[in-house]
Amino acid sequence: MPRRVLILYAHPMPRKSRANRALAEAVRGLEGVTFHDLYEAYPDFFIDVAREKALLVEHDVIVLQHPFYWYSAPALVKEWLDLVLEYGFAYGDKGTALRGKLWQQAITTGGPSEAYEPTGYNRFTVRQLLAPFEQTAHLCGMPFLDPFIVPGVLALNPSQMQAEALRYRARIEQLLNPEEADAT
Ligand SMILES: Cc1cc2nc3c(=O)[nH]c(=O)nc-3n(C[C@H](O)[C@H](O)[C@H](O)COP(=O)(O)O)c2cc1C
Repeated sequence: MPRRVLILYAHPMPRKSRANRALAEAVRGLEGVTFHDLYEAYPDFFIDVAREKALLVEHDVIVLQHPFYWYSAPALVKEWLDLVLEYGFAYGDKGTALRGKLWQQAITTGGPSEAYEPTGYNRFTVRQLLAPFEQTAHLCGMPFLDPFIVPGVLALNPSQMQAEALRYRARIEQLLNPEEADAT
């Protein structure tokens, strides 16, 4: 059975985006993918919690796609987490709505990959810096998949950027069709 994938796209300045826009263009419109632009939907941060919960329930894989901002996500993602992942829905005794759904984060960073090492200027790996997200997924009973990371995006030329966009599409296709991916 193909899975249904919800991409929660969060970029506060979409018109200025190069990397996230390229990634988004590669996956928008794929069958089985719902592409949901959070900043477009909620420019004033007034999140429709009921709508967001319904979207979550309808999908098997939740992808959070965003640029890395201060070792985390843009502010609307935090607001979304705070409001949508309610006690009794996402966690707590009766909060089982998200259990078993997969959490995939897709992140572009300005810093190059060597900066995200113990000896680099950012000292921690991106995966380590994502610990609050990983633990949030865990509390909701959601397996946290290996993050999809495009590092050093400012230095990528157009063909390198395009290659990263295709790599992203391949990851989303794998998530949509796990049996096909297992068979290859
Ligand atoms: C407010 C802000 C904070 C940022 N923080 C980080 C950071 O912590 N680490 C990093 O590697 N890049 C950081 N960057 C760079 C962005 O991650 C980078 O510009 C973005 O991934 C490029 O994607 P885009 O072309 O879709 O905008 C930051 C940029 C802004 C504007």
